[in-house]
Amino acid sequence: MTHDPAIGIHDLSLATTEFVLPHTALAAHNGTDIGKYHVGIGQRSMSVPAADEDIVTLAASAAAPLIATHGSDGIRTLVFATESSIDQAKSAGIYVHSLLGLPSATRVVELKQACYAATAGLQFAIGLVRRDPTQKVLVIASDISRYDLDSPGEATQGAAAVALLVSADPALLRIEDPSGVFTADVMDFWRPNYRDTALVDGQESITAYLQAVEGCWKDYTEQGGRALQDFAAFCYHQPFTKMAYKAHRHLLNYTGHATDEDAARRALADTTGYNTVIGNSYTASVYLALASLLESGQDLAGKPVAFLSYGSGSVAEFFAGTVAPGYRTAVRTTAHQQAVTRRREVDYATYRQLHATRLPADGGDHATAEQTTGAFRLAALRGHKRIYTTR
Ligand code: HMG
Repeated sequence: MTHDPAIGIHDLSLATTEFVLPHTALAAHNGTDIGKYHVGIGQRSMSVPAADEDIVTLAASAAAPLIATHGSDGIRTLVFATESSIDQAKSAGIYVHSLLGLPSATRVVELKQACYAATAGLQFAIGLVRRDPTQKVLVIASDISRYDLDSPGEATQGAAAVALLVSADPALLRIEDPSGVFTADVMDFWRPNYRDTALVDGQESITAYLQAVEGCWKDYTEQGGRALQDFAAFCYHQPFTKMAYKAHRHLLNYTGHATDEDAARRALADTTGYNTVIGNSYTASVYLALASLLESGQDLAGKPVAFLSYGSGSVAEFFAGTVAPGYRTAVRTTAHQQAVTRRREVDYATYRQLHATRLPADGGDHATAEQTTGAFRLAALRGHKRIYTTR
């Protein structure tokens, strides 16, 4: 069921990092057969942040085109979803609010639940717009996925931000009721406050994801959702793109559908383009899947698309959206492809140095190396404050 008026994603813009490491370089370093990366997990390259990039600069880069196109009129709420938080108190969204020159009459908040939080932000935004359809909500998902060097997770790193403008009469996607939701207390992946890389039990995390798929699908059907065969495509959270295929196969088995590999591939193939070359962007991943799908050659106008948003720990939500008529005129294909192709390739040694780059742990004053060529930079840490600049 769509809302009256229809509410959903009016515009979507993505940004990623200055640098990229191809999986061939990682494989050459650790002696892994490249087939494991290209086929086994379905990844070709990973976005690597420069020393002067963080979740704020990525988020501002993603959201700036939305403000340039639509202005800030009607935006009274900015929701920043991340699990790569830079502060225990202050929302990263406030820096973005400042960098984009948004009006002071805005509420700004940061949300966290691993990779799931942007979907919570989207649902909260829909509630706000339903209450007052003249309002718009800026939902930004921004994350840097960083695992320990030489760990199994290393090949699934990445970084990106996606900004969504949520409004009535959306030009891209009308979000439907109901949603199916699921929560279970699992220690599959977590990052305690004293660590800057995640702890993960890889196989346990895959099992937890698949259990969550079952749980939120069961709730979705109990809430009166659509039949599985209604959907033209499925956008899954993609920590690595092969995971989407595992999840979909699991859902087909669970619901008693024959696993037709060709049909499964058709339902997912157009959703993996950005995630394959960017890597895990946590909260942004499922919305990168949507960007890939909308920018593919398929004519999706009026068609229902399914979303499976998963965040370790764990929370999942299954929901649907109907692609708006005329959506092709509202997609940002050229800019998005440029964001990916403009990345500069680094060799393995440079990647290792970047991986180790941190602001001083004691908060001492520090000027970052000027590496990014993007519009927003994290220029320094001064008096324990992050200093951002705009080009
Ligand atoms: P691993 O032990 O390095 O790899 O861990 P593997 O041995 O499981 O192999 C991976 C696949 O490659 C297997 O395929 C192999 O057969 C295949 P599968 O059996 O699974 O279909 N393979 C090959 N294929 C072709 N040619 C070859 C070859 N060799 C092997 N030569 C793992 C992989 C994903 C566990 C690891 O990278 C990891 O721990 N990643 C981080 C955790 C993760 O991404 N979990 C996913 C679910 S949890 C989630 O999505 C939430 C998350 O995004 C966080 C959040 O919510 O905040 C992570």
